[in-house]
Amino acid sequence: MKEWTRDERYRVLQSPDEIKDLYDRIQKSVYRQAYHVQPITGLSSDPNGFALHEGKWHLCYQWCPWGAVHGLKYWYHVTSPDLLHWQNEGIGLAPDRDYDNKGAHSGSAISVGDKLYFFYTGNHRDENWVRTPWTCAAFLDENGKLQKLDAPLFGPRDDHSEHQRDPKIVWNAEKQKYYIFIGAQTLDLRGCVLIYESEQPLTGWRFAGELKVPGYEKFGGMWECPYIVRIGGKDVLIVSPQYTKLPGRGESTNHNVYFLGHMDYDTLTFTPDGPYQYLDYGFDFYAAQGAANVADPEKAILIAWIGLPDNHYPTEEEDWEGSMSLPRELRVKDGRLVQTPIAGVEALRDQALPADGTLPKAGELEIRVPDGDFDLALYCKEDGTGGLRLHYDAQARVCTVDRRGMDKRFNPQVFEVLDVPMDAPLTSLRIFIDRSSTEIFFNGGEKTFTTHSYPTEGERFCRVSEGAELKLWSYKTSVTDEFVV
Ligand code: FRU
Repeated sequence: MKEWTRDERYRVLQSPDEIKDLYDRIQKSVYRQAYHVQPITGLSSDPNGFALHEGKWHLCYQWCPWGAVHGLKYWYHVTSPDLLHWQNEGIGLAPDRDYDNKGAHSGSAISVGDKLYFFYTGNHRDENWVRTPWTCAAFLDENGKLQKLDAPLFGPRDDHSEHQRDPKIVWNAEKQKYYIFIGAQTLDLRGCVLIYESEQPLTGWRFAGELKVPGYEKFGGMWECPYIVRIGGKDVLIVSPQYTKLPGRGESTNHNVYFLGHMDYDTLTFTPDGPYQYLDYGFDFYAAQGAANVADPEKAILIAWIGLPDNHYPTEEEDWEGSMSLPRELRVKDGRLVQTPIAGVEALRDQALPADGTLPKAGELEIRVPDGDFDLALYCKEDGTGGLRLHYDAQARVCTVDRRGMDKRFNPQVFEVLDVPMDAPLTSLRIFIDRSSTEIFFNGGEKTFTTHSYPTEGERFCRVSEGAELKLWSYKTSVTDEFVV
């Protein structure tokens, strides 16, 4: 593993030429994704600024150009007509102001009339490396480029720690106000959310108070990347709590959870209907964010970083890592969140393949699971050994996913085996495989499991238990992956 000095990690990109060779080299990787958004070079992490504006989807990702390392963060901008085909647009936000000198950190967007506004954290550090997080804004200009405001909207509060970031903007029609939710940490190191309000998106911001989530006053040390949305009359609060271990999540100290409940803007209280739930049960899923301006009140559209902070992935040696998940649709049914792959994803199907146990490099599997215990080996060897293995124990109603059999193992100290407790007996699986990721939807979206996966040349096969029905398609390439900086 390469050791990076601070200067190397925080080097400012002066010209695209500086990363052209890196880009050319990375293009040759066998792990470049075919239909998932991925970093043009270096590292991608959180999704940012996700919104539908004038018929086009805008998305940015946290980007560190130089390699698979968390350093100076940019927003890299991509657009899509349909959430399936993605085009590189170049740098969205560069850390080029004093107030964001050490990174344009995560945030959100909102389309208002013919304007698209972006909200992000300007990560300022002084010469002693003391951090001041500023809440900053930008807008999309007529050339499709993000333009920053001259000054930040507001600074941090001194009654909370330096961890105050990741503004999520929402419009509340009832109150006729905008609200910004900020992921934060109290002075005694508890995770929380701070709320600001204004009648205008770019001016007049006032601190409204700390969000109360009864029962969750002590839940992790920092709530990164808050996201709130109303779906089918229910409020859904999603946060990424860190600095804590949670049951069933191995040694990981980074999680992505959701609460279903009710948000009261008068008292700034989110009252959960029940306990928190894991948004995804996989090894690599974090900082999920929903798109703004999804007009349908019955659904939200969510995308996440396939990856975790502080973890290391095999493509690190090729100087890149990270990927966005497939966008997914969220609905609330019978008091539960149901997640399904983005509508129309079937348009990416290229060929229906014989279910002879050979996997395409990028594609989809649909499996009808027979009653009783069930086994699936993905990316196994031709003799059926190894691979990413899923076992369903019908009596316990638990699926166990085990990646220890893969040739390329990673983050074994965090977890390599995880359980997915099912609410109902397992009847179906829909699995999306790309060159370095796997996303599993159980029972039509009752649970999901997302992981990086790096199969080697011999790991091209799959096996399912007898009685299962398997359908298989290869997928077209739908990310352009062009060198646009
Ligand atoms: C989450 C996060 C955010 C922050 C960003 C910096 O992964 O730590 O809280 O804004 O990454 O890249």
